[in-house]
Amino acid sequence: MTPPSNLALSAKAQLATLILGRRIELYPQVGSTNDLAREAGRLGEPEGLVIIANEQIAGRGRMGRTWVAPPGCCVLCSVLLKPRFSPEQAFYLTIAASLAIHRAVKKLFEECPRTDGAKSRPPVTIKWPNDVMVRGRKVAGILCESEFGAEGWDLAVIGFGINANLRREELGEMQATATSLSVELGHDVDRATLLARVLTELESIYLSLQNGQFGMVHSQWAAALETLGKRVSVNEFGGTVTGHALRVDADGALVLRLDNGAEKRILAGDVGAV
Ligand code: BTN
Repeated sequence: MTPPSNLALSAKAQLATLILGRRIELYPQVGSTNDLAREAGRLGEPEGLVIIANEQIAGRGRMGRTWVAPPGCCVLCSVLLKPRFSPEQAFYLTIAASLAIHRAVKKLFEECPRTDGAKSRPPVTIKWPNDVMVRGRKVAGILCESEFGAEGWDLAVIGFGINANLRREELGEMQATATSLSVELGHDVDRATLLARVLTELESIYLSLQNGQFGMVHSQWAAALETLGKRVSVNEFGGTVTGHALRVDADGALVLRLDNGAEKRILAGDVGAV
């Protein structure tokens, strides 16, 4: 386990970003890093603040769920942003975060020498909308939260949790659907390096969005989605729909071809295999 103080210092030392991480705050234990980042943003903190925690006792997940992680082994992080683009494009923060983590995780596997005789590296993909998956199991989740005022954005927070050095036993019942980088790589990962890489990728994608390059970011995200082309069932807030995942629209909606031939757009939900 990396001691918490080293995590922030070491990540900072590996960063060459302009905005993200110009200030990194590390806490041994918090409720939710997203709450701290939001609070700082409300108090006038400029964008780029990064809050990391060794442990969260009230971590939040998507769709009202909780996010539980044992202390000291995951990357639990929230980034404060103040986007200039239209609030209608808020979904692109989710896209940016999943793409950034996807790139950083992929790089870890590319660097890892294959000593087990395996011919190919495990697939690193994104499950719509933003779960990062290794070999079909979730290694990272993202929760973006935004606040808007009369003028547009007041603030946005990108929160992400990466299962870095969780042991197989610590995954418990989640083993069927979740994994960790250490389980997949066969060794622990340096959380500071991983965090620095994610922040570096995230800043580059964020700057593209600030410059209006939505199409490019969208197509890179769509290319990483494992969901497209499959028959899936999606749990929405109101129930479950099943169909063939056709495409993702420009606003991030997943478009399903239902069994009756109609197309259905889904803006939020959990995708499962059929
Ligand atoms: C999900 O997959 O449901 C999203 C999980 C997001 C968890 C992260 S951990 C850091 C940040 N703080 C939170 O309370 N949640 C996010």
